[in-house]
Amino acid sequence: MSRIPVWFDTDIGVDDAAALLVLSRTPEAEVMGISTVAGNVPMERAYDNARKVAALAGLTCPVYRGAAGPLYQELKTALHVHGEDGLGGAVLPPSPAPERSEAAWDALYRAAVAAGGALEVVAVGPLTNLAIAFGKYPDLKDRVRRILLMGGAARGGNVTPAAEFNIHVDPHAAQMVFKSGVPIVMCGLDVTERAYLTAEEVAEIGSHDTPVCRFFRDCTADLLNYHLQRGEAGILLHDVCPVAYLTHPELFRGEEAGVYVETRGTITTGKTVTDLWSDKQFPVKNAVVVLDVDRPAWASYVRDTLVNG
Ligand code: BDR
Ligand code: CA
Repeated sequence: MSRIPVWFDTDIGVDDAAALLVLSRTPEAEVMGISTVAGNVPMERAYDNARKVAALAGLTCPVYRGAAGPLYQELKTALHVHGEDGLGGAVLPPSPAPERSEAAWDALYRAAVAAGGALEVVAVGPLTNLAIAFGKYPDLKDRVRRILLMGGAARGGNVTPAAEFNIHVDPHAAQMVFKSGVPIVMCGLDVTERAYLTAEEVAEIGSHDTPVCRFFRDCTADLLNYHLQRGEAGILLHDVCPVAYLTHPELFRGEEAGVYVETRGTITTGKTVTDLWSDKQFPVKNAVVVLDVDRPAWASYVRDTLVNG
């Protein structure tokens, strides 16, 4: 079986860690590299977390540092959601892998060239690294097969009434990526707020005595409570959606749309404006906007991948 070459770009917090664990256990995918970006946590913490989670997952691919902040504005983190360490206080040993000095965007470009047009990029944080890569390497847009991202929302936001966190943190970068010409699968809040695991489902996964399941249990405990207290039906694992879509698109429902990012709003900065329900259509359909998921089937897939993968 020829495997899909995948690049994983992350501001690694709790749901990013779950996504990386699921990806590492996806037999159809080969993770060629991981890049880290400031978002949920500052970049250095993201770098350290990504290396530790990759080691836990048994991934031997290199991990690269990326941007320490958004292109044109101050960084906003989400430590109150993911914990001061970004991993909900779950302890992992240091990674034995060597640190890499190459910048994320250079390594991503190299991987895209090596993959000969087959590279799929899964991006689950602010899109700063990707924007820098597209700016520095104009031919990169022809070398990436697809970008599957967690970000945005056709309907309402989470960090503001209009905007979702990853896009709001670096709207200028997001706009560059949406305008890049690379086909995009946008897993925004429309779908990711339906992609939850109940407390019972988390406990069942955590009851399996493996390093991955024990880490999953410890890492998700505080975030599960955070979401339950806010009235959600379980823990929202936003970033697992684009990973699942990569090999199981049949679990999802999406529609092609034109998507542009508001970069200069007064109350709408970071809004992903779609033409899904408008009489006025944008000239180009640049994304598949994912709107729904078969939640029980998705939950079984996540469970089975983490427990048996
Ligand atoms: C997104 O923001 C982050 O907190 C999560 O990791 C996810 O990527 C959800 O808005
Ligand atoms: Ca994330």
